Formats: sequence, C-alpha cells, structure tokens
Amino acid sequence: MSVQPVLRMGNPVLRRVAAPVERFDTPELKRLISDMTDTMNACDGAGLAAIQIGVLQRVVIFGVEHNPRYPDAVPVPFTVLINPVITPLDEEQVEDWEGCLSVPGMRGLVARYRRIHYRGFDPSGNAIDRDVEGFHARVVQHECDHLDGILYPERIADLRKFGFIEELQQAGLFADRILPAE
Ligand code: NI
Repeated sequence: MSVQPVLRMGNPVLRRVAAPVERFDTPELKRLISDMTDTMNACDGAGLAAIQIGVLQRVVIFGVEHNPRYPDAVPVPFTVLINPVITPLDEEQVEDWEGCLSVPGMRGLVARYRRIHYRGFDPSGNAIDRDVEGFHARVVQHECDHLDGILYPERIADLRKFGFIEELQQAGLFADRILPAE
C-alpha cells in the first residue's frame, strides 16, 4: 500500500506485453491494486496500467471525479478492470488531447473510437460489461494500449500536435482545457 515510481517512456518494460491475470481475489492482486490506486491518486491521474509501475499483468484502473482543475472532464466511475477486451461499437473516431503519467508534462492529439464496448473482470472475478463513449472510452483505450506495450505518442497522426503542456497552451491549442493524464 504505497505510492510506486511510475516508469517513463524509454523504459523497455513499458514496451512489453502484459500477461492475463489467472487468479482473482488474492492478497497479491489486492496489494497491486492498492499500490496502483495510491500511485494514480498521488499523480492526480485519470488512469494507470499495472505495467506503468513495472508489473506485467493485465490490470488497469481509471476514474475521474469532478475536479476543479479539469472542469470539462466528464466524471468516470472509478473502475478496476482486469483482462480487458475492447470492441468498437462503430467506426467513428474522434481526436482529443491526451496525456500519460509515463510521458510527464506533455500532451498529444490522438484519434480514438468514440464509442466502445468493453468487458473484463473486477478484482473478485466478477464480470464487467459496459458500453461507453467520450472520455470514458478514450481512457479505456489508452490504458489497454499500455497492456500491449503501446504508448500514446505512437498514435499521434501529426507529430506537430505533440508537445509540452505550457507551450501548447501558449500556442492556444487547448487554451482552457487540459484533460488529466492517464
Ligand atoms: Ni498512459
């Protein structure tokens, strides 16, 4: 139960493919989720994958309460999602600025499916099955990419839309709205 260091882009562990969780409701899994939650909260993040603290298991957490720092962010219920599987509900994609706790201080414009179905398990092994859209859909796609060793900069179609937050803000690219990092 402690805040862990978040691995940063360049660390080869972030490029590995995480393995499915095979046993639920174990003390090890509970400790992992507790560490992830403490770490995400300490970083004011919207999501975190286990691989970002060096654990190669298919576990992600995410959630956004209403936060005065991100007044436009639609709240997303706090969720622990294990062995996730995503299916886009249609072909529509939307671009938005995205950040990552493993790429601190930066944001990039990334296209993601607007509407997805996802399924997986909670820490006790109960099924989770949801249709979601918008930022909720974005954060799940971002976290699930981590499980396959993919970081969001690889998803940026135009690398001119990638940079340091302060510079992008000064350039007026996302003036008054910055979404939390994932
Ligand atoms: Ni991330």
